[in-house]
Amino acid sequence: AGYAVGIKISMHQAAVSLTDLSGDILGAETIPVRANRDAPEWIADICVQQVQKIIADSAIDPALVLGVGIGIPGYVEYPSGLVRWAPVFSERDVPFKEIVEQRSGFRTFIDNDANMTALAEKWFGVGRTFPTVLVVTVEHGVGMGLVVNEKLYRGAHGFGAEFGHTKIVVGGALCRCGQRGCIEAYASDYAIAREANILGPSVDTDDPIALQNRMRQLIRQADDGDEAVISIFERAGTMLGTGIANLVDILDPPVVVLSGARAQSARAFFSSLRDAMEANSLLGADQTVDLRIDSGGDEVWARGAAALVLEETLI
Ligand code: BGC
Ligand code: NA
Ligand code: ZN
Repeated sequence: AGYAVGIKISMHQAAVSLTDLSGDILGAETIPVRANRDAPEWIADICVQQVQKIIADSAIDPALVLGVGIGIPGYVEYPSGLVRWAPVFSERDVPFKEIVEQRSGFRTFIDNDANMTALAEKWFGVGRTFPTVLVVTVEHGVGMGLVVNEKLYRGAHGFGAEFGHTKIVVGGALCRCGQRGCIEAYASDYAIAREANILGPSVDTDDPIALQNRMRQLIRQADDGDEAVISIFERAGTMLGTGIANLVDILDPPVVVLSGARAQSARAFFSSLRDAMEANSLLGADQTVDLRIDSGGDEVWARGAAALVLEETLI
């Protein structure tokens, strides 16, 4: 027997899962995190506490835990686990792998969060049928993971597949990365909520909890037929779909998986995304692209992070 821990860290919470060697989840916990306010050491502490709790609750022998895998948004150097930049941390260059390893005593692997959704697809999803899979995630930010011939593509430093900050409008809207015109600045939760602020009530889109609540409200309004809200989702979907069209023409992937909390919400978002993808990609217009939705939640990302541990320790 053997086990792995997978953690997804996002702007408002950390989702922790314990899996067996097949990646099946034995226990899971979610704990609140306050991005940019909680220190990396504190976030590591609460994650480690949850890991210990799940291990105790599952009554397994901690000596059989192969390691902890963590997916975190931002530029994560791999395999050093140095987080060069992450929207969750106010500091740059955080040696998060070391910080978690010291506190947990487990071997720790840290990678970009969206990369973990691609590993999840590889091991447990469409990747069992397709050796190459492109995953685009959309929720608080826009992420990407790419598996090429059954191997996760990380680029030279681990920073590859940072789709969210590729530009869709030159000199366009301000992004949380500090640059302008990024796809994320049009298609992410905070971009959608920021647009919706003109309709009121205005919310602080830098507050991850307020943002979650606002998104829930906006999706309900869109699904109830509120035209103004629908057109905001449509514009966001068109931007993201156009960005995906670019990826499709560059990569010619056999399958594209849309993942993350926003993938399954707001019909208007998805239909305009698909239309823009097909209209703006030569390959997409030719109907060669198989676009799918992964409707799993945070556990997909956490399971992918556990799969990282299994890959690194067993294969
Ligand atoms: C970050 C990516 C991350 C994505 C999804 C983006 O803002 O730059 O690294 O994968 O959000 O969380
Ligand atoms: Na990525
Ligand atoms: Zn950006």
